[in-house]
Amino acid sequence: MRVSRLNLLGLCIALSGGAFASEPLPIAQHGGVSQVMLTCTGCHGEALMGVAAAGFPRLAGLSADYLSKQLYDFKAGKRFNPYMQQFAAGLSDQDIQSVTRFFAALPTTQYARPSRASAAEDLGARLALRGAWERNIPECVSCHGPGGVGVGNTFPPLAGQPALYLVNQLRDWQKGVRRNDPNDLMGHIAKALNEEEIQAVSDYFAGLPVGGAR
Ligand code: HEC
Ligand code: HEC
Repeated sequence: MRVSRLNLLGLCIALSGGAFASEPLPIAQHGGVSQVMLTCTGCHGEALMGVAAAGFPRLAGLSADYLSKQLYDFKAGKRFNPYMQQFAAGLSDQDIQSVTRFFAALPTTQYARPSRASAAEDLGARLALRGAWERNIPECVSCHGPGGVGVGNTFPPLAGQPALYLVNQLRDWQKGVRRNDPNDLMGHIAKALNEEEIQAVSDYFAGLPVGGAR
């Protein structure tokens, strides 16, 4: 059942063309959304911008390839999260394609972010911008891009993601329950970080603006 509803969503997206680029919210409000989309917005926020307090990540504006890889990774058990494993399992290939394209096209720039927390800034900024090469920790921005805005389809944005979400991911890699990254890149990095560093670097990126303006 879910499948056909989401296919309908895909059709709506196709028919509406670029309209979503300027008006992402009305789909949720005009009642035309499938139950599946309502399910996603229930946790990821009405504009798919995440919910900081709960640690639910932003999906709006992330690469469709990255997002679909994550959904397949949840399906395959390479990422652990009871909710997402269940939701991902209910999506067909076509659903995944439609929904991730839709998320990727949502605009994000108009959303302001709180300014950076200064307490974590020194340690967090140092790791983010310079790394700790004596422990083989490269600077995060070398892969995640200047300002942590993300690069291409492989390196997701960290800027403006909830700190709690980033912390959870780094801990999951430490524990080995997220093991979906090419060549264990993030696994190695996460295992080299201590708890204080994980918190600091997560706070640092959470405080950066999504659109990359610095
Ligand atoms: C009950 C809450 C909940 C609902 C509903 C939900 N999600 Fe999630 N989602 C989460 C949480 C929590 C995470 C972070 C999981 C983790 O820590 O690994 C997540 C992560 C994700 C990610 C990975 C993002 C990234 O940056 O790697 C994708 C993609 C995703 N969800 C897609 C969806 C889609 C599509 C739907 C609707 C079909 C959906 N979610 C519905 C809670 C939810
Ligand atoms: C050598 C390249 C590289 C470096 C350096 C790097 N990352 Fe990553 N990171 C990746 C890749 C690739 C992924 C996506 C993995 C996947 O496909 O799920 C990722 C994903 C993440 C995620 C999950 C984001 C999400 O949306 O789920 C977090 C959090 C993260 N990295 C934090 C960091 C931090 C903090 C640093 C610096 C201490 C860092 N990364 C340095 C390559 C890198």
